[in-house]
Amino acid sequence: MGTMINVALPKGRLGEKVYKMFEAAGYGCPDIFEGRKLIFESKDACVRYFWVKPSDVPIYVERGAADIGACGKDILLEYDPNVYELKDLGIGKCRMVVAAPKGFSDDSEYPLRVATKFVNIAQDYYASVGRDIDIIKLNGSIEIAPILGLSDVIVDIVETGTTLKENNLVVYEEIMDISARLIANRSGYNFKSAAVSELLGRLQEAQ
Ligand code: PRP
Repeated sequence: MGTMINVALPKGRLGEKVYKMFEAAGYGCPDIFEGRKLIFESKDACVRYFWVKPSDVPIYVERGAADIGACGKDILLEYDPNVYELKDLGIGKCRMVVAAPKGFSDDSEYPLRVATKFVNIAQDYYASVGRDIDIIKLNGSIEIAPILGLSDVIVDIVETGTTLKENNLVVYEEIMDISARLIANRSGYNFKSAAVSELLGRLQEAQ
């Protein structure tokens, strides 16, 4: 048997797209979308997949529970894990933005109240533009914060723009473009380098 590669996939739409890329490259695993099981293995393809919460992917990879994983660049920038970034997968494209209610104008006499899941990204951004902020860490449904007066603006991900629009928010500033990345455990990348290189080559060919 060849070397088994352990892959952490983010649960949800992005993870499903990433899996399809792996399947097209010859790393298919029967029944992976069936039921509520979280670990799937194909001995023939020498691959084992784990479905994990997107922000946990780098934790599995950094600690070697997974050899490789896929996650958004936003998560890498926010958590700064000690992993190799192997490849931009060219999917999961979106933007990190500052959004605010229509007509918002920033009053520089006060710290700007910023609601976000991405505390480090927001702090780095506002440090780079020299603006004092009061950060409000939330875990989801960030768009509600300015509507309820909890914050002045939000720092969040925009993909189609629908969530902003339906909550009467507009993009106020662009912070960066985001896409999904393939990451690898640092030591696993060395001792499983042949298997990981082959996988990378086959992904490239299948694209
Ligand atoms: C993300 C993001 C926005 C939405 C943007 O939320 O936080 O709410 O997607 O997508 P759109 O521009 O296509 O509307 P996610 O689904 O990750 O949920 P959460 O932030 O509430 O956890």
